[in-house]
Amino acid sequence: MQSKLKDVALDARKKAYAPYSNFHVGAALETANGEIYQGCNIENASYSLTICAERTALFSAIAAGENNFTHLVVATENGVSPCGACRQVIWELCGEIPITLVSETGVCTETSSSQLLPQAFGQQDLGS
Ligand code: THU
Repeated sequence: MQSKLKDVALDARKKAYAPYSNFHVGAALETANGEIYQGCNIENASYSLTICAERTALFSAIAAGENNFTHLVVATENGVSPCGACRQVIWELCGEIPITLVSETGVCTETSSSQLLPQAFGQQDLGS
């Protein structure tokens, strides 16, 4: 895995707005043309309005006109996996891509969209 992407995810984590959980998450999303989009979690006093780092990165990239993603890195204190909602959104917008989970000390775990969300529900399941 490209260490630049890991550094960008760790840097994004520093931008997290997480006064309620104090759990800071950063994401770095690489596009096919080599751009990198950052995301961090952004919490709200009305808790359910919180958005995760992964979705912030994905939605920023989509809003910037991107639609071809090649790698996602997610940085947390302890290198844990994305939540279920983010797994579904990653599958929708990225399909099968490599995903690297990185801890604040730099320990990496390699996985992928389909490993995180086996037998995913997707566009094809809606029929014609
Ligand atoms: N969080 C993420 O940013 N990504 C995930 O995949 C899991 C959870 C955030 C949401 C909330 O701000 C904090 O972590 C604790 O749940």
